[in-house]
Amino acid sequence: MNAAIRAATMVAIAKGHRMLGARHGYRGLLDGELVPIGVDEVTEILRDGGTFLHSARCRRFFEPGPRARAREVLVQHGVDGLIVVGGNGSLTGLELLSNVTEAGDWPVKVIGIPASIDNDIALTGLAIGVDTAMNTIVEACDRIADTASAHDRTFIVEVMGRECGYLAMTSAIASGANMVLFPEASRTEEELVDSVVKTILTVRERHRENPKVVAIKAEGVATPTERLKSLVDARLREEAGDSLDEDDEIETRVTVLGHVVRGGRPTAFDRLLGSRLGNVAVRALLAGEHRKMVSWLPPMDLPEGVGARSKDDPYCYLVDLPAVLAATKQLLEGESPLARWRATAFDDLEDVFLL
Ligand code: F6P
Repeated sequence: MNAAIRAATMVAIAKGHRMLGARHGYRGLLDGELVPIGVDEVTEILRDGGTFLHSARCRRFFEPGPRARAREVLVQHGVDGLIVVGGNGSLTGLELLSNVTEAGDWPVKVIGIPASIDNDIALTGLAIGVDTAMNTIVEACDRIADTASAHDRTFIVEVMGRECGYLAMTSAIASGANMVLFPEASRTEEELVDSVVKTILTVRERHRENPKVVAIKAEGVATPTERLKSLVDARLREEAGDSLDEDDEIETRVTVLGHVVRGGRPTAFDRLLGSRLGNVAVRALLAGEHRKMVSWLPPMDLPEGVGARSKDDPYCYLVDLPAVLAATKQLLEGESPLARWRATAFDDLEDVFLL
C-alpha cells in the first residue's frame, strides 16, 4: 500500500497539487487526522510493508451520520479528490461516502485502489499485497518441505484468505504442494478427510523413498485445521491397523501461517503494482473520473459499460465502483463465472498434483 501512496503523492505533487493523508484511514477522517504529505514523507516508504499512514477497522463509518461528518472534514480541508486504498470493506465505505442519494452534490471525486492479500475483490486480476503474501507462503512451504522430507511427514499448512481460496490455490501451485483445500470447492468434512488421506496414502505408495506431503488449506474451509488433522490421523491409524510399528510416524503436523503472511517487505511486483495503480488513480482524478476503482488486468471480460482501459497505463482499467462491489458479492457467494471457475479449476488437477 505504501507504494500506491508514494506514487500517488509524487505524481500529484509533480502536477502541482497538494496531498493530504488520512492517518488510520476512515477513523482518521472522522477524527480530523489529516496530515500534509510531501515527497520527504514518501520517498523511503517503498520498501516497507503495510501503510505508513496506519490503518484501522472503523465501524462508525457504516453509519450515515459519521459519513456526513467525513464529507464535511474533507471539504473543510479543501480536498477535491479522494483515493482510498483497501479491500472490500474500504471500497464499500467509499461507495457509501460518495453515493449521490446520501452525498448530494458533494464536490469531492473518489477513486479506489484494491489492496487485500485475499484477492477477493472482483473485476481486478490482482490486488496489492497478494504477490507478497504468496511469496511468503511459498518460502514458508519450502522450509516446511525440508522437515516434511527429512521426517517423511505430512504437513497441513493453513493460509489466510478469509472466505476466498485464491492464495491457497496459487501458492499450492507455486510451492509444488501435493494438494490444496479451498472453500470454493464446498467439500463436506468427510470429503476433506478422504482427500487428504488419499493423498497421503498415494504419495507413500508412489514415492517410497520420499513420502513427504505438504497440503495447503485455506482458512475459509469450514473444518478447523486442528480438527481436520485429528480426523486424518485417526483415519490413518485405522487404515494402518495392525501393520503399525511403534516407530511409524503416522501423525500429521499443522502449521498456521496466519498474520506472518500479511506483512514483510513487499515484493518487486507488489511495489510495481502499487506504484502503477497509484499513478493511474491520480491521473484518473485529474481527468475528472469519479466512483471508479483502478483495476489490474481483469480476469474476465468486463460487462458492457462497466469499465475501460486506462489511457495512462494499458495494464490498468477504470471500473465502475458499484459494479465492482456487486461483482465482489457474487464472487464471495460463489455465483459469478469467476467463482464457478475457481470452484472447479482444480478438479482435473487433483490427479496431476498427486503424481
Ligand atoms: O482480509 C485480510 C485478512 O488478513 C484475511 O485473510 C484474514 O481472515 C483477516 O484479514 C484477518 O483479520 P484481522 O487481522 O482483523 O484478524
